[in-house]
Amino acid sequence: MCGIFAYLNYDVSRDRRYILEVLFNGLRRLEYRGYDSAGISIDSSSAAVHRPSDPPLVFRQEGNIESLVKSVYRDVSATDLNLEESFSIHAGIAHTRWATHGEPAPRNSHPQSSGAGNDFLVVHNGVITNYKVLQESLLRHGYTFESETDTEVIPKLAKFVFDKANEGGDQTVTFCEVVLEVMRHLEGAYALIFKSKHYPNELIACKRGSPLLLGVKEYAQEKSNGTSYNDMKFISKNGHPKELFLSSDAHALVEHTKKVLVIEDSEVVDIKDGGVTIFKFDHGKRDGKSHSIPASVQRALSILEMEAEQISKGKYDHYMQKEIHEQPESLTTTMRGRLIRGGTSKRKSVLLGGLKDHLKTIRRSRRIVFIGCGTSYNAALAARPILEELCGIPVMMEIASDLLDRQAPVYRDDTIIFVSQSGETADTLNALEYTLENGALCVGITNTVGSSIDRNTHCGVHINAGSEIGVASTKAYTSQIVVMAMVALAIGADSISTEQRREGIIESLINLPDKVREVLKLDQEMKDLARSLISEQSLLMFGRGYNYATALEGALKVKEVALMHSEGILAGEMKHGPLALVDENLPIVVIATRDQSFSKQQSVIQQLKARKGRLIVMCSEGDAEAVCGGSCPVIEVPQVVDCLQPVVNIVPLQLLAYHLTVLRGYNVDQPRNLAKSVTTE
Ligand code: UD1
Ligand code: M6R
Repeated sequence: MCGIFAYLNYDVSRDRRYILEVLFNGLRRLEYRGYDSAGISIDSSSAAVHRPSDPPLVFRQEGNIESLVKSVYRDVSATDLNLEESFSIHAGIAHTRWATHGEPAPRNSHPQSSGAGNDFLVVHNGVITNYKVLQESLLRHGYTFESETDTEVIPKLAKFVFDKANEGGDQTVTFCEVVLEVMRHLEGAYALIFKSKHYPNELIACKRGSPLLLGVKEYAQEKSNGTSYNDMKFISKNGHPKELFLSSDAHALVEHTKKVLVIEDSEVVDIKDGGVTIFKFDHGKRDGKSHSIPASVQRALSILEMEAEQISKGKYDHYMQKEIHEQPESLTTTMRGRLIRGGTSKRKSVLLGGLKDHLKTIRRSRRIVFIGCGTSYNAALAARPILEELCGIPVMMEIASDLLDRQAPVYRDDTIIFVSQSGETADTLNALEYTLENGALCVGITNTVGSSIDRNTHCGVHINAGSEIGVASTKAYTSQIVVMAMVALAIGADSISTEQRREGIIESLINLPDKVREVLKLDQEMKDLARSLISEQSLLMFGRGYNYATALEGALKVKEVALMHSEGILAGEMKHGPLALVDENLPIVVIATRDQSFSKQQSVIQQLKARKGRLIVMCSEGDAEAVCGGSCPVIEVPQVVDCLQPVVNIVPLQLLAYHLTVLRGYNVDQPRNLAKSVTTE
């Protein structure tokens, strides 16, 4: 998904090469979100010699960041621009684009411009839904368009507003007034950064829907009261040396600073003269006073908990590989401080700080409804049986987009649980907005502290799995299941009849990281299996009960990274269609680990064998002979309590998908056409 990055140094001297490298590096950190083209804008001259006629420079390329980097240095070397020229103040903007309107091409990349002269430049994440109307009106005023993007109307509208306000001669309208007027005309979702040659060294950022963060690095100076700027909760006023960064997510900020401000919807951030002013824009207000500026608001900075090492690959070749292998640790972090010894019984119980005050309401719910997309939906599906069992409340499953397409009924006495790794998925957020309107209790389960899901739900649980950078979700999936199992334990904690069952699950949770460590030893075996499947066209996965979700999720992994057709099938549906596909060529993974579905899966294996099916069976350790009598490849996994078995079972399938991808020569971390965080519908 598109990524925005900006860098403004104030009273901190930086040469042009340094500024370029900060911008490129910011884009590299956003690469994981998925993109197909990129661009940047920097100034052509430093503040000391700036003339209003000096247009900012714009560089745009389709393809990866490195091709942008090469083209920028090539273009710069063909001019008299000096890479060593120093700027004590400078504002640069950068963007990775994931095509929605118009093919990947330099003209469709960002920054988008108001026209020759680059009076106004804009980088944008999101979609402007009324861009056609705005475009028609600008065309009538003589503007021409060079791109097919929805974004191009924004800088052109800014120029129109600016020119109109300055018709009298002297420039009186401020940059912020121009942007506020533009915002009054925009519909849709956006995070935007504006740069203009008329307002050198100033940037304006605003957002509605799409995420945007401001990072602040202030240079330590003793204040008269003895505090240094490093200790300050607020951004200092004008005049103090600082570097400011804007980014779509924290990954591009953490190497520079941990002090961030999560910009909220409708906020407009004006960075000027070393100061940051934040305004709250009222979308509903059209009072006719076109340039009136709302009162400014003060916001405290927060501290990122992320470490810079979290976003490096370490000893691994790919993020997906790293994230699969770090699951014993991520699961430990997910459970840390949440399994406590409580009461007089000294037994362990679950404490979820974010839910404890809401458990009574949840227990009284008419239904629990899970909402998510992709892997997050699958994780909820894996946890559904234990929730039903321990809570005794009907649990419904909803794919976010489908709930909205159907405008499905939601009741005040429902508990709706939103599951999302990123916390920014547009469909899930739209479903949240819809649900909030209907008055239900909205609970979030997310990996991203400060994300939109986190901020807009009534309560929730952070899965604390650490940064997940590979587009294919792996460690977030297992941590989500564990959190939802803990949610089931917390809701069901008041029932005496399930006490023993709950204790068994808690015991198994404690041992789970070790079991996952054990199953990771299948890495080489999964690589060998991948080698045997490398040229297949298709791979089916059959599961049921707790492991229906494993089949769906295993197939999703294979299709999204290895680019091989793969389908997860509910084994109970086999005879209602899928059986027709079975022959001696099509590989089929059957998940038949020990739980209440085991005997049914054994019978599925027999029926598939009777049709000469080419089987690969996943079974519990020691069951290989029993399940297929040595006649097919088996994946033997350690046994854990039934409801946590999906956590163990998915790991070999993640490894299989990973190795298949590498062996087939595809991009593991940024699969074709996919984005990490899908912030448009
Ligand atoms: C919290 C702290 C953790 C600290 C622990 C000590 C945070 C983020 N977490 O963890 O650092 O070690 O207390 O007691 O500061 N929430 C939502 N929606 C969501 C997710 C969470 O509203 O989608 C809310 C929760 O209801 C809660 C807050 O965010 O109010 C923090 O949630 P969580 O991190 O899960 O809480 P703790 O595990 O108690
Ligand atoms: O960030 P979210 O969990 O809301 O994302 C939902 C899906 O887009 C995501 O899980 C997607 O299916 C992954 N690429 C799967 O690996």
